[in-house]
Amino acid sequence: MRQLFITGTSRGIGRAIAEAACASGLFRVTGYARGSGPEHPAYTHVTLDLSDAAALETFAFPPLEDNIEQVVLINNAGMLGPVAHLGSFDAAAIDATVRVNLTAPLVLSNAFIHAYSHFPAPRLIVHVSTGAATSPYDGWSLYCSTKAGLDMLARVQERELAMRKDGWPFAVRAIAPGVVQTAMQATLRASDASGFSLKQKFIELDAQGQLSDARQVGEAYLQVVLAIGDDPAAYPDLITRIPPLA
Ligand SMILES: NC(=O)c1ccc[n+]([C@@H]2O[C@H](COP(=O)([O-])OP(=O)(O)OC[C@H]3O[C@@H](n4cnc5c(N)ncnc54)[C@H](OP(=O)(O)O)[C@@H]3O)[C@@H](O)[C@H]2O)c1
Repeated sequence: MRQLFITGTSRGIGRAIAEAACASGLFRVTGYARGSGPEHPAYTHVTLDLSDAAALETFAFPPLEDNIEQVVLINNAGMLGPVAHLGSFDAAAIDATVRVNLTAPLVLSNAFIHAYSHFPAPRLIVHVSTGAATSPYDGWSLYCSTKAGLDMLARVQERELAMRKDGWPFAVRAIAPGVVQTAMQATLRASDASGFSLKQKFIELDAQGQLSDARQVGEAYLQVVLAIGDDPAAYPDLITRIPPLA
């Protein structure tokens, strides 16, 4: 049996990954979100607000049985934050977005490496990235900058993990999902065009049926997680985009 810890399992891509992992029969899944997660015997839900500083301060991963064959953390939870130009935000909204998109992945990565530093099985951290980590969009200053930070976190982690001497694979990847039909995209399409000049482009992508299906994207993440567990060289690129389903 493998163990998956994943944030943002109440809807969208995170829920789809959790459902795919449960259905595979290969994973026990622990999911974190404010809302509820999937109903499945292999799934355990932890109600957690990743924007809550006190909750992050006390966050820890549990001890695991030695017979677990792979341990995985997917930092999936994310939020756009206010979609508007700088000059119009209140500090609390900035703070919450940074916490969910960047502080929480840092805290969970730190807790994961601390808890499973010597665990005798392959370990993997996946950060759910985005093209917006490298492309600036007006109105997305909070999203773009926090996701760029997430990619840099992956780069530093890769360097540190390469310096480990314990001989067991301990891998990290930042993997972007493409444009996926989720609540986050609906929020974008409903945003105020005066604060986001590319709004119409996202409306057209949707109208043309060009958004990926969240279930298929969830399956694709699971395939990558399984492949890297068997051989980290299967997907050697640190920062990449999810490949189409095999
Ligand atoms: N959809 C896309 O086109 C797209 C493209 C590129 C990257 N991404 C990335 O993919 C990931 C998932 O996005 P999605 O499209 O599936 O978004 P979504 O449908 O809005 O789902 C976001 C998930 O994050 C969780 N979350 C948000 N704030 C949270 C908080 N304070 N505490 C705990 N959990 C929180 C939500 O749970 P609760 O609200 O229940 O807490 C929810 O489960 C994000 O990191 C996003 O940046 C998405």
